[in-house]
Amino acid sequence: MVMKIQKLVARGIRGLYTEWSNSCKMASPVCIVLLSLLLEGCTRPAIHEPVTLTLLEEWTTKTLSAAREQELQQFTRETGIRVKLLPSPESAREKLALWQELLRTGASGPDVYGIDVIWPRILNEYFIDLKPHFAGEISSQFPVIAASYTVDNKLMAMAYHADIGLLFYRTDLLRQYGYREPPSTWDELETMAARIQAGERAKGKKEFWGFVWQGAAAEALTCNALEWQAAEGGGQIIEEDKTISVNNPHAIRAWQRAARWVGSISPPSVVGYEEWDALNVWIAGDAAFMRNWPTAYVDSQAAGSKIRNKFDISLLPGGKAGRVGTLGGAGLGVSRFSAHPREAVELVRYLSSRDVQVRRSAVLSVPPSLPELYDLPEVLERNPRFALLSQAFRTGIVSRPSTVTGKKYEVVTDAYIQAVHSVLTGEKSAPEAAAGLEKELIRITGFKKGPPPRGSAHP
Ligand code: GLC
Repeated sequence: MVMKIQKLVARGIRGLYTEWSNSCKMASPVCIVLLSLLLEGCTRPAIHEPVTLTLLEEWTTKTLSAAREQELQQFTRETGIRVKLLPSPESAREKLALWQELLRTGASGPDVYGIDVIWPRILNEYFIDLKPHFAGEISSQFPVIAASYTVDNKLMAMAYHADIGLLFYRTDLLRQYGYREPPSTWDELETMAARIQAGERAKGKKEFWGFVWQGAAAEALTCNALEWQAAEGGGQIIEEDKTISVNNPHAIRAWQRAARWVGSISPPSVVGYEEWDALNVWIAGDAAFMRNWPTAYVDSQAAGSKIRNKFDISLLPGGKAGRVGTLGGAGLGVSRFSAHPREAVELVRYLSSRDVQVRRSAVLSVPPSLPELYDLPEVLERNPRFALLSQAFRTGIVSRPSTVTGKKYEVVTDAYIQAVHSVLTGEKSAPEAAAGLEKELIRITGFKKGPPPRGSAHP
């Protein structure tokens, strides 16, 4: 082990560090992880000491990381295996870049990695097959989630939480403005948001906005925009049968409508918002509606939140093809470079286990990856809205085209993000951006163009 670390220090880390010093200027978390790994490497125990695993995953908020630390302490108490939780950057793209850098250097690095539901085909080669270890458990997951983590019959990661885009709305304001229900269509949301915003501003709340969401050029924009267009029958960008369908009138109209929101019901700066920017405006009490993931619930309901007990969640509004939320979520994979694969599998088993998922969903409202848990009284009592989610995971999701595009998903999503962002900022018209994107996607994937399927927004 010591020799391995010395070699790594001599060869890998120095190169890695130089290579990364540029990205460090942009993303300091990258440097922090590297340093943590270096220190971890230097303090790795001698043979007879207890094993210490390193875990790099996607949870970055204080609340979630603190809860994770507690889970890890419990794991150590039960198994004697220690775990060091590494810090991680915030956005999905920065995370993926960091994961790739670490995995490409091989040799050392974290033992267990958090895997976003869109990454399995991008990172597959670096992870061991978990199927032999979880053969009995796979069938109890939501089928769509288990399928996302299965690459050519290999279980690349084990899911431990499910995610779906949701609408958060202010119950107090809806009541005040005479609305009994949250909006069921995007057009209704637009009208309600405009009315509430005008009313609140007239009362002197100059910073109040109708609707906050994620409009920055980042992965969350793919999720938001896919929801708008799929609900209107505008398809999934690239369909499961490899048809590039994005250049169609429904998608174009959905993008145009969102562009209209910027500066009217949404702040002009929404084009720079990621999840936490929207959440900050929302918990400050400065928005009527927010699109976010279920995990935003905890911070909305936390002690310092101005909207504690004044909000609820519902499915996202829909259009003529139905109501859909983008499927998100995370799993855990064991690096094939891990020196402790047996212990690493135990960690994955623990963090994805039924009991830990129950506790996590009761305390943190994190949606489990196991459908049966949504019917448990102890889970439902704390999260009455989980009944809604369980249904949505079965019939109301839209998936990003990460399975059909495999390793190319990264480039595909980047192209989509740039196209939609250029419409939101007014740099390009929606038809122009959609036509350009179509050409680019043909070039990237070699697939053919065609119309989106008719009918409902989800398969
Ligand atoms: C959430 C989702 C994940 C998605 C990311 C985008 O973490 O779970 O699937 O890629 O948000 O920001």
